[in-house]
Parts: sequence; structure tokens; C-alpha cells
Amino acid sequence: MKKQIVFLTGSSAGIGSATAQMLVDAGAVVYGASRRQSPSFSNEQSGGQFIPLQLDVNNENEIKKAVNRIIAEQGSLNVVIANAGNGLAGSVEDAGSEEIKYQFETNYFGVLKTIQACLPLFRQQAYGRIIAVSSVAAVIPIPYQAYYSSVKAAVFMLMQALTIEVKPFGIECCTILPGDTKTNFTSARKHSENANNQSSAYYKRMKKAVEKMEKDEQNGMRAEKIAKAIVKQVFSKRMKIVVVPRTDYKLIYLMGMWLPAKLKLWLVSKIY
Ligand SMILES: NC(=O)c1ccc[n+]([C@@H]2O[C@H](COP(=O)([O-])OP(=O)(O)OC[C@H]3O[C@@H](n4cnc5c(N)ncnc54)[C@H](OP(=O)(O)O)[C@@H]3O)[C@@H](O)[C@H]2O)c1
Repeated sequence: MKKQIVFLTGSSAGIGSATAQMLVDAGAVVYGASRRQSPSFSNEQSGGQFIPLQLDVNNENEIKKAVNRIIAEQGSLNVVIANAGNGLAGSVEDAGSEEIKYQFETNYFGVLKTIQACLPLFRQQAYGRIIAVSSVAAVIPIPYQAYYSSVKAAVFMLMQALTIEVKPFGIECCTILPGDTKTNFTSARKHSENANNQSSAYYKRMKKAVEKMEKDEQNGMRAEKIAKAIVKQVFSKRMKIVVVPRTDYKLIYLMGMWLPAKLKLWLVSKIY
């Protein structure tokens, strides 16, 4: 297989940082994009194979510039990994429209803009691999994180439709659906403005549920577990369309896909 040139968003922490390190170890050249620098992984440490890019996925121009720079420096780009994202906690009623828009800007439009910037080149090359990091929350509706669940479901659906559209051009797509993973995601999670208002009708239930989610995340998988699953797809002969790391989460995914809604929602309400 030819040398993989990878554009990875959300490389400064968690799953993205672990993925960058593993890709470099496997011989890839990685352009890692985030708003901050990774504290644990630098260009020097990677022997020049990791090139950090300061970029906000909400800024289309910055994304386009990054892709142009990769093409200018490497002559090609083979893989894009749209991983950058964050969470929003709070009840559906309590969230403000700006907060909701921001959640969709970063987690949906950020992914979309990243992918769109690579598609013309991928078509021209008749080769390209697109990997997006969604979540099992795409198929399991998470209360008090309804907007996060919705946006991850939107990414999952986008990727599946895109798989069909780009197959004739030799482009492959894969969606990764992680379950609870111990990363900075928990501390980076935004809480909607009214979520911590004790007079909210949802306050007590929301607080209990979100505390449970945060505990599960911090007791969750290591970021390396998800990174390994991503890297496996980058170097596989053919990418899988959907990857759910770890057996218990595969089961949860299947339940999300196949259980009758009434039973599924009853089970979720018992957990949170
Ligand atoms: N942790 C979990 O339990 C879990 C479960 C399922 C799915 N996921 C998904 O996995 C992906 C990675 O999350 P993680 O768990 O690794 O969390 P993390 O440790 O908080 O890492 C998130 C990364 O995204 C970057 N990012 C956030 N907003 C950005 C923006 N506007 N522009 C550019 N980069 C941005 C952050 O960098 P900067 O802040 O430096 O920009 C950081 O590098 C996310 O899509 C998340 O939804 C996580």
C-alpha cells in the first residue's frame, strides 16, 4: 500500500491524539488539526511525520487552506478523519438556540465541511478514505444530551448516504461509533445555560443522568482502543462501513438498531 497521507481533525486530545500517534507509528504522515496544540505529541516527537495545524472546524476557509497546504506539500491526500467534536448537556427545553446551533456547527457542519473540502481531490485521484467519528449515541437516544444524540445520528446518516454517492469514484466511507471513552470529552462538555438552574423542572433528573454519563465516560475505554479501530480501517484492504469498538457496545448498537422503540426507550430511561 502507498504511504498514507492523513488529514485528522481533533488531534490535540483524546481519541484524535491517540490516533495521530498510532498512525505515525504505522508510517503515515498526519496533518493534525485542532484549535490548540497537543500537549503530548509534537512534530519533533514524531520525527516530522506529524504536522500540527491550528484550525477551527467551524471555519470553512481554514479547512480549505489546510487541505490546499497538504496537497502542496505532499502532492496528495489519501485519508480524512473527521473526529473533532464536543458534547452539550441539558434538557431539550432548557437549551438556548445559540447553544444548539453551536453543537450542530461543530459536530455536524464541522464534519461536513472537512469532508467536502477533500472530495474534489479524492474524485480526481479516484481514491480516498473518509472516516467520521460518530457515537453509539447516534442509535441510542440519550436524555439530557438530546442534541448530541441528534447530531451524531445526523453524521451517521450523512456518512451512509455519502458511501453510496462516492463509491463510483473509488472513495470509501467508514463511520466509527465509540461508546464511553475516557478522554477530555467529559471536561470539555458544555452545559446549556439553564441546565444548572435549580428552578428548572428538569434540574434534578438532568443532574443525576449527566453525572452517571460522566462517571461512565471516566470509567470508559481508553482512547487507544478507539484509535486502534480507526487505524485498522486506514490500513485495511477495504474499509468497513460501520465500526463499533468493543463487544458490549456492538450489542448496544444492535439493540439501538433493532429493538422496538417502546422497549428501547424504557431501557434507556432505567439507565438514566
Ligand atoms: N469520549 C467519549 O465517550 C466519546 C464517545 C463517543 C464519541 N465520541 C466522539 O469522539 C470524538 C473525539 O472526542 P474525544 O472523546 O477524543 O474528546 P476530547 O478529548 O475532548 O477531544 C476532542 C478534540 O476535538 C477538538 N475540537 C473540538 N472542537 C473543535 C473545533 N471547533 N475545531 C477544531 N477542533 C475541535 C479538540 O481540540 P481543541 O479543543 O484543541 O480544538 C480535541 O482535539 C468526538 O467527535 C466525540 O463526539 C467520544
